[in-house]
Amino acid sequence: GARNILVTGGAGYIGSHACKALARAGLNPVVIDNLSRGHADAVKWGPLIAADLRNTDRVRDTLRHHRIAAVIHFAAFAYVGESTAQPELYYDNNLGGMTSLLTAMRAEAVDQIVLSSSCATYGIPETLPITEIAPQRPINPYGRSKLICEWMLQDAATAWGLRFAALRYFNAAGADPEGEIGERHDPETHLIPLALMAAAGQGQLHVFGDDYDTPDGTCIRDYIHVSDLARAHVLALNHLGAGGDSLAVNLGTGRGHSVREVIDAVARVTGRAVPVVTAPRRAGDPDSLTADPTRADNRLGFRADYTALDQIVADAAPWFGHPGIE
Ligand code: UFG
Repeated sequence: GARNILVTGGAGYIGSHACKALARAGLNPVVIDNLSRGHADAVKWGPLIAADLRNTDRVRDTLRHHRIAAVIHFAAFAYVGESTAQPELYYDNNLGGMTSLLTAMRAEAVDQIVLSSSCATYGIPETLPITEIAPQRPINPYGRSKLICEWMLQDAATAWGLRFAALRYFNAAGADPEGEIGERHDPETHLIPLALMAAAGQGQLHVFGDDYDTPDGTCIRDYIHVSDLARAHVLALNHLGAGGDSLAVNLGTGRGHSVREVIDAVARVTGRAVPVVTAPRRAGDPDSLTADPTRADNRLGFRADYTALDQIVADAAPWFGHPGIE
């Protein structure tokens, strides 16, 4: 039979897209999610166990009952600003969840995991694009919690033979091109959703700083389509399932876009002006973050299919007040 994959945080934005990619690849997603930030109606491709990961007994029961072959671990808090204001929340949830999950996996002899990690583990890069051998010096509690999760996987690999793939996402964006699932954060803090909302008449977009050391003065990020990210998880599972060794890879397109370029894309795609106001810099935003995507290609055979910013924006648009856009 097909392999059953435990997807922690499978009711969330990237997790729900990963479940669709798994199902499409003939794998069976089993979601565990406490629904603190996820949406039960985003779980469409397998069962939902509504439980907190820190309940180790529930996780063990789930691994055993569903004969889980491997785990993809998304469940975590992921707001940089919130993590700075309430670090204890991030260490409790993100490290508590990881600790409990690894305890349950070891007890039930499940030895393969794909981790949702982040370019936030690199902090402020010395050179661009960022390769995986760049120093990891996170500058906020969110990034530190993800880096510690990577260390926990390395330690488990040494201690009991866990094999892992740490996937360091750059800026996840867009939505399922078929419209079955999308991005629904509360509060919404991400650039593309907020620019789309502004274009739909819901407020103004605040451009956080226009005096950065970039060609147009606004920050540059590497936006990767969430369906590409989702597919990378299937490739990582295949790598581990075939006996591949542990690895950490960047997931990005290798191309950067400025805030202004994103605003222009939103205006182009929606046919509407984006009301903008220049605002002070947001604390902890580096000038530019772009991935060197070479290792993901070499090790996993992963390359982003959706490289056009306009396509990413168009797929996100229906979820933010632009129902007709395709
Ligand atoms: N921005 C604005 N106005 C807004 C929102 C964002 O100008 O209203 C700018 C930001 O300053 C940044 C860019 O748009 O330059 C992208 O911001 P996002 O908040 O969309 O994304 P981030 O790059 O800050 O954050 C993302 C992920 C985090 C991850 C981080 C790594 O959402 O989880 O990348 O640096 F930690």
